[in-house]
Amino acid sequence: MRFIENQPLDRLNTFGITARARFYAAPESEVELARFLRSVTARNLPLMVLGGGSNLIFSGDFPGVVLQPALTGVACIGESADHYLVEAAGGEKWHDFVQYTLACHWYGLENLSLIPGTVGASPIQNIGAYGVEIADHLHSLTAMEIASGEVREFSREECRLGYRESVFKQELRGRYIITRVRFLLLKAAAVRTGYGDIRQELADHGIVQPTPRQVADAVIAIRTRKLPLPSVLGNAGSFFKNPVVAAGKLESLRQHFPEIVAYPQGEQAKLAAGWLIEKAGWKGRRIGPVGSYNKQALVLVNHGGATGADVMQVAHAIQQAVLQMFGVQLEMEPQVYGPD
Ligand code: EPU
Repeated sequence: MRFIENQPLDRLNTFGITARARFYAAPESEVELARFLRSVTARNLPLMVLGGGSNLIFSGDFPGVVLQPALTGVACIGESADHYLVEAAGGEKWHDFVQYTLACHWYGLENLSLIPGTVGASPIQNIGAYGVEIADHLHSLTAMEIASGEVREFSREECRLGYRESVFKQELRGRYIITRVRFLLLKAAAVRTGYGDIRQELADHGIVQPTPRQVADAVIAIRTRKLPLPSVLGNAGSFFKNPVVAAGKLESLRQHFPEIVAYPQGEQAKLAAGWLIEKAGWKGRRIGPVGSYNKQALVLVNHGGATGADVMQVAHAIQQAVLQMFGVQLEMEPQVYGPD
């Protein structure tokens, strides 16, 4: 049980940013994880916990320890009349887990197919797509406290899930490692096809009463068309959150931009950041190796050899352009790690 020194991180982040970690380890059990944590605490080194590396940017070399928990296993651990209680270990790949649940006829996660990353990282930003988010199915989770190595359970409510948010991005940021996640999945299929792209995709294939498998396949087809494959073009999915503004702000924006894409939510409205970025002239535009993707402006891509600084330069330029044109501040979705 030893740390690897001077570990390259290029292949461990989907944006493909070149960086190194001073120390790296991928513990395969909770016991091993606790041992590594004790060693990190004893040496007083900065720690970063890595999942699938799909929602982060390295701003430079990481001067401490990168731990990438490799805990695996999926099991049905209980059931009620309508639900299965399914537990998955944190190191499982999210997409593989979703496909496994479908093969087992455990339903509910089909719309979340092809999201990169791991099961352990999924609650941190409450991953979501096509009208479904983790919050709809999360039952509870187990996490290890970094400082003490103690294991604690969090109920769904204690995770405080919001739009791409949770307690693990706020007060508890950097304090816990999620080791196991439990989901309540449905025994009877109840597909959610309200999202326009899904409806269209199913209609194009003449599917009227889709099965969960067909919904998953529709999502996979849409994502494959719209989002670049990280192995071909480095990226971290949506780079900014869709901004939520007051309903009044949307009204005043509508006067200048009648075609603005927005989703009203009571007193507030969520704006399509991709539309704002495109309208601000940034779709497909780049500075050096980093640019906005030409098929989905909300995704920033690495055309090759990008550093964290290159990414942040483009991110700031886009934020500035959108702020100037619409008076709306875009908030980054990926987390930034590196030297302080
Ligand atoms: N749009 C444009 N130009 C663009 C891109 C988008 O005008 O270049 C407009 C279109 O009108 C489109 C609307 O924006 O109808 C919304 O675009 P899309 O359906 O692609 O979804 P999104 O809002 O850009 C969000 C999530 C995605 C998720 C999709 C589908 C966020 C930040 N992103 O993207 O999540 O897959 O909806 O549900 O909420 C991620 O978080 O990494 C991610 C990929």
